[in-house]
Amino acid sequence: MPLLSMTVNGAAVTAEIDIRMLLVDFLREELRLTGTHVGCDTSQCGACTVHMDGEAVKACAVLAVQAEGARILTIEGVGTLAQLHPMQEAFREHHGLQCGFCTPGMIMAGIDISRRHGTELEVATVRSELEGNICRCTGYHNIVTAIISGARAMGDASATSHAAE
Ligand code: FES
Ligand code: FES
Repeated sequence: MPLLSMTVNGAAVTAEIDIRMLLVDFLREELRLTGTHVGCDTSQCGACTVHMDGEAVKACAVLAVQAEGARILTIEGVGTLAQLHPMQEAFREHHGLQCGFCTPGMIMAGIDISRRHGTELEVATVRSELEGNICRCTGYHNIVTAIISGARAMGDASATSHAAE
């Protein structure tokens, strides 16, 4: 069995795994990071979205061995209960969740959308970019509002931290 090493939420991780293991199963079953969800068997729903070396990926479409040496960020590493990430705070404030099953993937996607498109997002951009994330509760209106607001707050947070430097 291959020995796998990567960084997950800032911590170095090493494990012997089955070469066929998916990254999402490694995160959930080996590391017990169950905030990353499995919502389909077809790489369509986006519930498993994590960041790999800073880019959003569907962890059910990546073999764990493909993440050898990578930096992985899951929803558990995004914020804390005491200090939510601006995107998490925006989902809370704008009620961007119903059952919440899709929410971790939506938040990881939202952060990635802001990284690629900037902190001032258009509704059409967010709707188009969310094509790969399915909310079965169909509460997309609030999710889109939350992502636009969260992206703007990310910009404000980064401006504040630069001003303090
Ligand atoms: S579980 Fe990965 S896209 Fe659905
Ligand atoms: S909030 Fe339930 S699936 Fe999206």
